[in-house]
Amino acid sequence: CGITGYLGHREAYPIVMNGLQRLEYRGYDSAGIVLADEKNVKLYKTKGKVSSLRKIAEKNDVHGNLGLGHTRWATHGIPNDENSHPHFSNSGNIAIVHNGIIENYDTIKKELIARGYTFKSDTDTEVLVNLIEEVKIKNNCKLGKAVQMALSTAVGAYAIAVFDVNEPTEIIVARLGSPIAIGIGENNEEFFVASDASPFIEYTKDAIYLDDEELAIIKLGKEIRIRKIKDDSFVEPHIQELKLNLEQIEKGGFKHFMLKEIHEQPHAIQDTYRGRLLASKGIIKMGSVDNNIGKFLNANRIIIVACGTSWHAGLVAEYLFEDLARIPVEVEYASEFRYRNPIINKNDVVIAISQSGETADTLAAIKLAKSQGAFVFGVCNVVGSSIARETDTGAYTHAGPEIGVASTKAFTTQITVLALMALKLGNLKGEISNSRFNTFLQEMTLIPSKVEELLKINSEIEKIAAIYKDATNCLYLGRGYNFPVALEGALKLKEISYIHAEGYPAAEMKHGPIALIDEHMPVVVIATKKGHYDKVVSNIQEIKSRNGKLIAIVTKGDTIVKEIADHVIEIPETVEPFTPLLSTIPLQLLSYHIAVMRGCNVDQPRNLAKSVTVE
Ligand code: G6P
Repeated sequence: CGITGYLGHREAYPIVMNGLQRLEYRGYDSAGIVLADEKNVKLYKTKGKVSSLRKIAEKNDVHGNLGLGHTRWATHGIPNDENSHPHFSNSGNIAIVHNGIIENYDTIKKELIARGYTFKSDTDTEVLVNLIEEVKIKNNCKLGKAVQMALSTAVGAYAIAVFDVNEPTEIIVARLGSPIAIGIGENNEEFFVASDASPFIEYTKDAIYLDDEELAIIKLGKEIRIRKIKDDSFVEPHIQELKLNLEQIEKGGFKHFMLKEIHEQPHAIQDTYRGRLLASKGIIKMGSVDNNIGKFLNANRIIIVACGTSWHAGLVAEYLFEDLARIPVEVEYASEFRYRNPIINKNDVVIAISQSGETADTLAAIKLAKSQGAFVFGVCNVVGSSIARETDTGAYTHAGPEIGVASTKAFTTQITVLALMALKLGNLKGEISNSRFNTFLQEMTLIPSKVEELLKINSEIEKIAAIYKDATNCLYLGRGYNFPVALEGALKLKEISYIHAEGYPAAEMKHGPIALIDEHMPVVVIATKKGHYDKVVSNIQEIKSRNGKLIAIVTKGDTIVKEIADHVIEIPETVEPFTPLLSTIPLQLLSYHIAVMRGCNVDQPRNLAKSVTVE
């Protein structure tokens, strides 16, 4: 979910509404807004997207200098008007927006019902706001104190913003597990609240990111006060200067964020290795690896934890670290790892990969690994995110904001960082000779221009997309370094076009999926020159002899596969470990065009969210 708010001298409505639109990547099955001033309070909420909310609100009164908005990704209760946020307490005095889950809501709800409270929605949030009211009345205390006390009894994760309609000059915000940023206007005359800083970057560059278990009291004309929820101790506010600008979060002439982000990859990859890859000196400089080099060189093994596309980048890293640095690697779904009593040793290095840096399961896996003595290294895109802070150290991908829910540039930049690490360690361990190392470095500097070259075949891929847009199933095959690319290609297609797609290691096809192949089944095969080419060619023959429709990703100049496949997409030649950086690009474009042709909402596919802060 995304939350945003405004308190100040301007009209809150346009700021909160535009902010919601920018946060929609965090969830978009329902939306709501509350506006207040000294005289009255207005609440609008609806199932559906922020644009539906805008239509409803703009038929009504939208005045008020305080506003809170919410865009939801349902956890408790189906997406409907009632379950949408903001929620009010029974008296109608306290309003709340919430991102996260209150796990013990059922127990609290029963207690509140026993005291006469009633509930309109099925949400845990309505339970929390009534608990706050109950605590406030019982202790006859201020709102900030009541929120603090209520949160001490709540178990779970949250980022909340709360206000009292009788005092529309104050907002209370708090965080545990879900992110929240506070933007500060000049002289404390206005404040902004949001799940990330994007809703307020055109208004202020000064922001505070709350830490877990912190509560902030935001009052017009006053300095922000922050307290620890548990022990009530005072926390000195740490104001950071935002580096984000408006242009970075807008579409820049592209039809969709996803297409923009696909096209940003040459720059993004370059930004990732900038300052790290010093090809002319023949070195890779990565402070966080250099400073902990003993940990990496003495590692018994590397355990990679991640979810979704980041997990696929982790699989590529398994090939990279084992092949180039000869360090054993295990790649784990964070959600499985955290609950299966894993064996973690002090000499294990855990690498957590996360674009958003907020994924709840990945965060929990990190905490578990740390508690058992492992050294945890983060690969994140979002600077200052929870995972970036929770890990012992790490490397940012520097891909810039990724807004499209389907991850693209985050994936290739994650691979870039992980490749740099593997190369560096491999060279230090003597597994890669200096001359081979230098070849890799030179080759890496050519990757951005090769991606650029690949993007030029966009219209060719669009033509292939037009042929297969009505497919109901699709198979993606790859081997070695390109096996994870096949998984990622299938994920991209299913998440944005809703076509059922599966990724498989090419040789495994004959152990099951081959039964699905007939003349209606498109099969995308990555058959680049290096990487078991001959074996993949045999797999291709197996598909063709069963009349499957073959779309092959081949190395430029290939002649053998061209003879057999229905369509070939050529990618420039590169060293084998870097092929995923190129072979991924046409698969991203193929999914994109198919989804557009099917009329799907590419940037905000149904049921998904960009940042999953619940487990
Ligand atoms: C969500 C997104 C995916 C992403 C996954 C992990 O499911 O829709 O695109 O790969 O979360 O997110 P992270 O931010 O940890 O990389």
